[in-house]
Amino acid sequence: MKEKTIYEHLREKGLSRRDFMKLCGTIAGMLGLEFSPPVKALGKVLNPSPEEVVAQALKTKPRVPIIWLEFQDCAGCTEAISRSSSPLLSRLVLEDIAIEYHETLMAAAGFQAEKAREECLKRYYGKYVLVVEGSPTTADDGIYCTVGGKSNLEILKESAAGAAAIIATGNCACFGGIPAARPNPTGAVGVADLIKDRPVVNIPGCPAIPEVTTGTILHFLVMGQLPALDSLKRPLPFYGHTVHDHCLRRPFYEAGKFVGSFDDEGARKGYCLYKLGCKGPTTYNACAGLKWERGLSYPVQSGHPCLGCSEPHFWDGGGFYEGQSAPTMKLDKGSTATLIGAGTALGAALAGVNAVKKTRARKAVVKPEQPVSPAEEKKED
Ligand code: SF4
Ligand code: F3S
Repeated sequence: MKEKTIYEHLREKGLSRRDFMKLCGTIAGMLGLEFSPPVKALGKVLNPSPEEVVAQALKTKPRVPIIWLEFQDCAGCTEAISRSSSPLLSRLVLEDIAIEYHETLMAAAGFQAEKAREECLKRYYGKYVLVVEGSPTTADDGIYCTVGGKSNLEILKESAAGAAAIIATGNCACFGGIPAARPNPTGAVGVADLIKDRPVVNIPGCPAIPEVTTGTILHFLVMGQLPALDSLKRPLPFYGHTVHDHCLRRPFYEAGKFVGSFDDEGARKGYCLYKLGCKGPTTYNACAGLKWERGLSYPVQSGHPCLGCSEPHFWDGGGFYEGQSAPTMKLDKGSTATLIGAGTALGAALAGVNAVKKTRARKAVVKPEQPVSPAEEKKED
């Protein structure tokens, strides 16, 4: 019997054609498909728009089943994805078109769940995407993470054998994460350290940014291939820049204005967190652009230095809050203008966070401190 296409599946689930086209636009934006000016011949447009490329793929490709395993983890990546800023995309991946087996989200438990996994592996051999959350353990033949009487090493090996692609989500699955922190008693490693004969993509973060996980899965569904990767197997569209590259506080860094302690004047003014140990300059991740909680904020915006959660062994890489002396830089005319712009943007962002905090805690007695506007700051200086 001919397999249903993703489009047919979505229509059966009640998605209207109009919503389908909206969804295609959202996916095209997420995948960064570029719009090229229409090429016309005999009154017809020859090149499809990004939405049409996605629509065509979804109308012709069958569903790609996803099998999602969990090893040593806190299930934070699953938690994050179920609270994604793009609920439409998460629902699409988690419920509508793809997930066949997910240890945390599915209703089945115990031997019933194990049987479901084994059936999925057989039925979709060679076609499914395997998502792994949590680090596999290797010490003592992997017995420190055992599910249904099988060690995680056995489960990973048999699940990887028939996978079309493997996506390791979260720092634990990518590089061992917190379970691999010294002295690493369970011998935690990343999936790619063990699986060498299948394509593995790493989506590190603690947790991974949900839109990056769904975006990478959708890239495979729509384009039929994995995105380009960096040397640590991270998808370049999401890990091509450092947190520092797109940081709202960056002009303060350039201007040599740093926070010295969490409660000083600089902290209130939104200065750069470099002296507090911020790892933004050496950390590749998309959090400064995509953010968390529906685009509300991310660690650096909220006043906490970046811990480098998308880099290997971030837990053991020196103190979180120490080890960096501030670079010395002088403020020129260009950076003054940028600084004022950044101050306004950061002020607006912090005001947004404060507004949400206020709504959430209407009865709070203490008022959150308002950021100093760039104009006021200039006067003080
Ligand atoms: Fe860079 Fe961190 Fe300073 Fe932002 S807060 S500019 S990421 S050092
Ligand atoms: Fe992680 Fe740093 Fe972003 S700690 S979430 S990479 S700001």
